[in-house]
Amino acid sequence: MFKAVHVLNGPNLNLLGTREPAVYGHETLAMIEARLAKTCKAHGVALHFRQSNNEGDLVSWVQEAGKAAEPVILNAGAYSHTSIALVDAIKGSNARVIEVHLSNIHAREKFRHVSRLSPVVQGVILGFGPASYDLALQALLSAPAKPES
Ligand code: DQA
Repeated sequence: MFKAVHVLNGPNLNLLGTREPAVYGHETLAMIEARLAKTCKAHGVALHFRQSNNEGDLVSWVQEAGKAAEPVILNAGAYSHTSIALVDAIKGSNARVIEVHLSNIHAREKFRHVSRLSPVVQGVILGFGPASYDLALQALLSAPAKPES
């Protein structure tokens, strides 16, 4: 079992709770963090839960997790659709990443239908609101090793 899990959140996710509640629900990022912390504690895994509106922070944190061989749950927000830097960080650091989205990006505007990250992550969980994060954590806990290792 891995020692820690990194939950990385991109731009505007700090606004959860008040941001377009019809799309993202009423739960805040702090509420999601509290629930994940409980699950992690029960499994003896440390939780590094972070949010930044800056692409470079997410790149550095992915590299950090990759170097430590610790898995990542990544909601890169709008950077999911645009960031070649994040694609390179995931590939370059060999980080094990589960991509998550609260909303079903395929049922929304066309510009959200493509995630640049999806081809370089282990798997994607989307459309379950805040539960997308819990499901990603469950996936990691039930399959603790990288498939190719
Ligand atoms: C999101 C979907 C993205 O398209 C959007 O830019 C976000 C949130 C989601 O969790 O549903 O910021 O990643």
